[in-house]
Amino acid sequence: MELIQDYVQRWYKSGLDPDEYICYQKQGNFVEIEEVATGTRIKVLSFCSNDVLGLVQEEAVKQAAIDAILKYGTSNSSCSVLSGRIDLHRQLEDEISAFKHLPYTQLFMNAWMAMQALMDAFCHFAIPVPGFQNHRETLILTDVLNHGCIVSAIVNAKTRSGKVFSHSPGVRVKAYRHCDVENLASKLSRHARPNDRIMVVSDAVFSMDGDIAPLPDMLSVLQNYPGSVLVMDEAHASGAIGATGRGIYEHFEILPSDAIQKGIAPLIMTTFSKFAASAGAAISSHIAELKPLLNVSPTSIGTISLPPPTTAAALESIRICRKSPELVKKLQENTRYLRARLAEHDFDAIGETNVIPVILPLEINPKVFARHIMKDHGIWVSPIWFVAKPRIRITANALHTVEDMERLVTAMVATRNLLYKPKITAMSM
Ligand SMILES: Cc1ncc(COP(=O)(O)O)c(C=O)c1O
Repeated sequence: MELIQDYVQRWYKSGLDPDEYICYQKQGNFVEIEEVATGTRIKVLSFCSNDVLGLVQEEAVKQAAIDAILKYGTSNSSCSVLSGRIDLHRQLEDEISAFKHLPYTQLFMNAWMAMQALMDAFCHFAIPVPGFQNHRETLILTDVLNHGCIVSAIVNAKTRSGKVFSHSPGVRVKAYRHCDVENLASKLSRHARPNDRIMVVSDAVFSMDGDIAPLPDMLSVLQNYPGSVLVMDEAHASGAIGATGRGIYEHFEILPSDAIQKGIAPLIMTTFSKFAASAGAAISSHIAELKPLLNVSPTSIGTISLPPPTTAAALESIRICRKSPELVKKLQENTRYLRARLAEHDFDAIGETNVIPVILPLEINPKVFARHIMKDHGIWVSPIWFVAKPRIRITANALHTVEDMERLVTAMVATRNLLYKPKITAMSM
C-alpha cells in the first residue's frame, strides 16, 4: 500500500488528478454543482454531458421510469436467464432491432459487460455440446483508439471469463492505425491464416477524438474475407449521426444488409447512457444463434438484469428519438454551428461529431483551462489528457441555444487570451 500512497501523492502534485464536482440539481443544461475541494456551490452551464438529445429530464421518460417502478419494483432481483427477464426487456430489444435494422438484440448492464460477453460468446464455446468441436482460431483486429471497453474485452478474449484454466483454440489480437483502412488491410493480409475466424472491432464515433470510422472502406476490405465479423460500438453514434440518428450505417447511407450481402456479419453495440437518457447496452445481429449464447455469457448469467426504471427510460427515449427526428436534426445543427464558430476563432477542434475535442498546446494543463472557464464564465467543460494531447472536450446537445454556444465561444477565447497565444490560420485573416 505504501507504493500506492507514494504514487497517488505524486499524482496529486503533478496536477494530473481530476477536479471533483457533485451535482445538486439540473434544469436543462444548467446545473448546480459543488466544488468538492472548497465546498463552494455554483450554477453552471454544462457543455460536458452526454445527454445528447436532452431526454434525461423529459417528462415522458421520467414517467415511464416511475411507472416501471410501480409495476415491477426497483430491481428484477435475478439475472435474465433465471427469473430476471421482464416484458420491458423484450420491448426494448425489439425497439433497438427495428432502429438498427438487425433482428436479434441482447441487453446488458453496460458497454463493458456487453463487449466482454461478445468476446466470450464469439471466441469460446463454453458449454460442452455432444458432437461439437471447434478447432478454428480467432483473429481480432482493433483500432488503436478504440474505447476502453473494447480494449479490456479483447485483452481478456484469450481466456473465457472466469475460466482461467479452460482451453479453446487461440485468439490473436492485432491493432491497426487509427481509422487507417490501408493499415487494416495490410494487417489482415499479414496475420490472417486460412482457417481463422476474423473479427474487426471499432468505435463508430471515437469518444475522445469525435471522428467517425471509415465504414464503407472497411467493408470493401472485409469483403475479401467472407464470413468475417465487423463490430461497431455505437455508444456515441446512436441518436447522434445519420439523418434520423440510427448511427454509422445511416450516416454513410447504407444498411447492415449491405454488409451481409458482401458476406460480412455486421454486429452493432448500442448504449443507452447517451442518447437514451438511461444506462445499459445492447448487441444486435442478424444471426439468431448469437443471442442465446450472449444470454448465458458470464457477464449476463453472472449478474443482475437491467432494472425496470432503467429499461423503461431507455425504451421511452428510443421511441421519442424515432418519433421526433427533429431532435437529431437540432443536435446536428448545433454541432455544425459550434464547430464553425470555434474554427472561426482558430481553435483546433478535431473530429466531426457532437463530441468536440479542442486540442491545446502541449504546455497547457487542460485542468487549468477548464477551471478558468468555470470560475470566470460559469461554464462546465471537461479537461482531458488523451494520447498525450491535452484537450478540452466539449459535448454539444440538442438543448443548447445559440446564446449558450456564443457564451462558450466567448469564454474559450477569453481563457485562451489569458493562457496562451493562438496560431493564426488563413480563416481568421
Ligand atoms: C465508444 C464508447 N463505448 C462504450 C462506452 C461506455 O458506454 P456506457 O457508459 O454506456 O456503458 C463509451 C462511453 O463513453 C464510449 O464512448
